[in-house]
Amino acid sequence: MAPTGDFVPEPIWQEDLEDAMSSQARLTRPFPRGGDFTFVRRLQPASRNNGYVDEARLGGRAVAVKKMPDWWMCSSSEEFDQNHPGESERPWTDLGLLSELQRRRYPYSCDFLGIFHRGAVRGVVTGLATGGNLLDWSDSQPEPGPSREGQLLPLVVQMCHAVQLLHHLGVAHRDLSPENILLTECPAGLRVKLIDFSMASLGQFASLGHRVGKTPFIAPEQFAEGGGDYDAFLADVFSLGVVICSMASADYPWSATAPGDFPLEDPWRAGTRALLERVQPADWRQPLSQVVSPALMDLLCVVLEPDPRWRASLGEPCYRHDSRASAWRSRWLGDASPTAAPATPGCKLRALGPKTSLRSVSTSTGSACETAPSVES
Ligand SMILES: Nc1ncnc2c1ncn2[C@@H]1O[C@H](COP(=O)(O)OP(=O)(O)O)[C@@H](O)[C@H]1O
Ligand SMILES: [Mg+2]
Repeated sequence: MAPTGDFVPEPIWQEDLEDAMSSQARLTRPFPRGGDFTFVRRLQPASRNNGYVDEARLGGRAVAVKKMPDWWMCSSSEEFDQNHPGESERPWTDLGLLSELQRRRYPYSCDFLGIFHRGAVRGVVTGLATGGNLLDWSDSQPEPGPSREGQLLPLVVQMCHAVQLLHHLGVAHRDLSPENILLTECPAGLRVKLIDFSMASLGQFASLGHRVGKTPFIAPEQFAEGGGDYDAFLADVFSLGVVICSMASADYPWSATAPGDFPLEDPWRAGTRALLERVQPADWRQPLSQVVSPALMDLLCVVLEPDPRWRASLGEPCYRHDSRASAWRSRWLGDASPTAAPATPGCKLRALGPKTSLRSVSTSTGSACETAPSVES
């Protein structure tokens, strides 16, 4: 398939992903030396696996390099599985999906430019998203209100479309958060890019008992006891709803969705709208209903519905035959179309701590620079 042209809506099957991961393991090559590859700046400090992300120039092109130590990433997906059994964060899934999404000309992923190694470090190289992540966007925006919502609307249209198309290809992201949604400047305005498919799964349903994502964004049905499956597409809709709410209000609506912590738990049958309107994080002077517009509140009520049976879809074909509401029919999304979102000074949203996959409890204990040789030198 040629790398340019129209989106190809062919599902990604397990065999496609495995082939992609194997061929990328074979295609791993040394980082170019000299002026062909130059460090620009660190974009993301070391995470729990001592991985970090740098901006660099590769053959004259601005790129992002996600560098991971060999002990973590290993030289293939098979070796990774042997060394990290049961791990829910899987770097080879990330790069295998990146390459399959590119083959299908999915418009909302960064260009995948290859995997490189030097010494004990591997680097996954993608095209640079020049506008940073949604936390950066949030910092550049005015206080919550009509102006901020106006800037947000065209980005939310793209985010919903990005996740809808991803589901159309059979992929659930499972770690949607402001850090994993980037913006890049294009002639037509800001373009949304989804990144970090390392927790993604194939197919509409995923097994319970393997909770993934960051605590405020985890769909509450993932806490159900007793095993079985959950609808991972609808869980993505919930996470995206938390992202939209956080971007509109410049704060996270809650810190966790676990039983006992989640303010939309409804033992007295008050109704999702009544509970959501009253949500008021400690830093806010007003409840959510006073912070966002009534039209956006309508959208939030249907995408943040705690019971997945009543949650809105993003219009994916798999829900065509049920009576489920679609987020696209909300009046806030109504007749919106993507436009540029110029930045104005404003409000800070704090970054979240490490991911909370319950199966991986370790957190970063040091900087990647201490344990892994730098590839810039
Ligand atoms: N292609 C890219 N362009 C610009 N920034 C990027 C790119 N990829 C990653 N980043 C930056 O690095 C951060 C973390 O990237 P990610 O792949 O999610 O790593 P992690 O596994 O640590 O979560 C992003 O929030 C963003 O700030
Ligand atoms: Mg990430």
